[in-house]
Amino acid sequence: MSRVAYVNGQYVFSRDAKVHIEDRGYQFADGVYEVCEVFHGALIDEQRHMERLARSLAELRIDAPLGAGALKVILREVIVRNKVTNGYVYIQVTRGVAPREHTFPEKPVRPSLVVTGRQIDPEKGERAARKGISVVTTPDLRWKRVDIKTISLLPNVLARQTAKEQGAYEAWLIDSEGMVIEGAASNAWIIDRSGAIITRQLDHCVLRGVTRTTLIEIIAAEGLRFEERKFSVEEAFAAQEAFVTGATTLVMPVIAIDGRKIGAGAPGPVAQRLRAIFHDTAARSS
Ligand code: PDD
Repeated sequence: MSRVAYVNGQYVFSRDAKVHIEDRGYQFADGVYEVCEVFHGALIDEQRHMERLARSLAELRIDAPLGAGALKVILREVIVRNKVTNGYVYIQVTRGVAPREHTFPEKPVRPSLVVTGRQIDPEKGERAARKGISVVTTPDLRWKRVDIKTISLLPNVLARQTAKEQGAYEAWLIDSEGMVIEGAASNAWIIDRSGAIITRQLDHCVLRGVTRTTLIEIIAAEGLRFEERKFSVEEAFAAQEAFVTGATTLVMPVIAIDGRKIGAGAPGPVAQRLRAIFHDTAARSS
């Protein structure tokens, strides 16, 4: 099937889709993005993704390319045109096209908007979750405002490549004090020996994951103990369970960190349960 993308006002076949060579996203990574899961044809936690997109744009002083209603229509159209039942939509907004100059364009330019959609075999994620994933730790080389979801992802790309070359799926980024920040494309969690579910508190060094926010609500509803604080790599090694969260990974059990087994070296019961019930609580909008 030919894939279809929305590019600045038009639906085009992906193979024909083009952006200008002086788009500031292309030249400066001057833009932001969102990845929103599609589950049984419905968008998961759409509202939270739209709120985060609006915040990222505001932080970088990029105008919203369209009103919220128009963007909603485009997301649905991309889902339908690409026959996505399970997968994701990708939304990218850049500051727009202007002659290359680091400062913002003198004259206002129209932000560029691209939306794509992709089908993913749901069984693939389920298989990975049944097995559990491995992670490796690596220093965090990113800038100091990763709470903004920018398309500037080179350190994340390099970290994930390092993970892949070491036979792992994800890289956990570590700060100068040996504390775990988050994954290269996911939030990082552990469950300590007392059963407390722990993830790092929010600041400018970590992305406010939408899956993370929804999972915190689920944890509260389940009556489980939650601690929002820093944890060290050493604490992670000693944890009973570990997992990562993200829009496409959902709740994904971690069974090894830097080659050391976590807990029994198999997906833990709490992570498995949280994964199983995640979609019951997440907001669906079709
Ligand atoms: N990544 N932290 C980072 C650095 C991320 O890139 C992501 C998501 C998350 C989890 O956020 P959410 O739960 O809202 O997906 C945390 C997306 C999926 C990506 O870049 O593909």
